Amino acid sequence: MSTTAIPSLPLNNGTSIPQLGFGTFKIPPQDTRDLVLTALETGYRHIDTAQMYRNEAGVGEAIAAAGLERDELYITTKLNNAFHARDDALAAFDRSLETLGLEHVDLFLIHWPLPAVGKFVEAWGALEEIYASGRARAIGVSNFQPHHLRHLFADTTVVPAVNQVEVHPWLGNEEVRAFDAEHGIVTEAWSPLGRGAVLEDPTVVRIATDHGKTPAQVVLRWHLQRGDVVFPKSVTPSRIAENFDLFDVELSQADMADITALDRGERIGSHPDEMNNTGR
Ligand SMILES: NC(=O)c1ccc[n+]([C@@H]2O[C@H](COP(=O)([O-])OP(=O)(O)OC[C@H]3O[C@@H](n4cnc5c(N)ncnc54)[C@H](OP(=O)(O)O)[C@@H]3O)[C@@H](O)[C@H]2O)c1
Repeated sequence: MSTTAIPSLPLNNGTSIPQLGFGTFKIPPQDTRDLVLTALETGYRHIDTAQMYRNEAGVGEAIAAAGLERDELYITTKLNNAFHARDDALAAFDRSLETLGLEHVDLFLIHWPLPAVGKFVEAWGALEEIYASGRARAIGVSNFQPHHLRHLFADTTVVPAVNQVEVHPWLGNEEVRAFDAEHGIVTEAWSPLGRGAVLEDPTVVRIATDHGKTPAQVVLRWHLQRGDVVFPKSVTPSRIAENFDLFDVELSQADMADITALDRGERIGSHPDEMNNTGR
């Protein structure tokens, strides 16, 4: 499969991001090298990891083993919830670069706003310093509701390039997506497959059958055609290949509307206003 098939989306700082990547949440550290290498060999060039996933080392080993040019790759990591204080954030970022074996990442995110901790503005200041140093080519946030973003806009300078939030057919997250779009922020849809649960939905199964594709492929197409970035995770090599094979099908407006209508506001993860866990 050729990587030229993967579209890129422009970000608000002049860089761009591959719209399809490979997610690594819950990939055990000891399996990460081989699975990320499988993804890179399949053609994925965008890898989404995080300090809290404890698998940055395996991502770095896969990057080293793949022998690709650095500028062919797009690597995202995220700030550990324990490190919103400025000096902690700067030190944690240095450790990420060292663990990944990289001189820069393409995107560095605040993982959660942690409203009760009340330090995301301070953390964003650290990310602005990192961005100014060139060691993160873009910076963004994750799990930010519009009111968290408004707070950030009021007190800081750089507008986040992305907002990575939970989105899948059972959680359209339309208010956040619309706010992001209105402010030039690209939405990244985490748990794009709803961790697999939405794949048995009869509407998804019917549309997949109509197109001769799998339910996962149809759901991922829905995200791509809505303009979001996705990085499905799988530890199964055949699914890693399946989730990359998305560019020979186009969903109709009726298919898109039918999947969008499945929204029932059902979250898999925590609500961003309620998540304040700083455990590592
Ligand atoms: N910023 C955040 O707070 C946050 C939170 C959650 C996730 N994320 C990011 O988003 C990425 C994706 O989300 P996610 O890992 O939560 O969930 P996901 O990608 O929606 O779903 C992963 C699950 O779906 C299964 N699966 C994958 N491809 C499949 C296919 N083709 N057919 C059937 N089942 C399939 C996987 O099984 P197997 O692995 O057993 O094959 C796994 O159980 C994460 O890895 C992470 O990078 C970010």
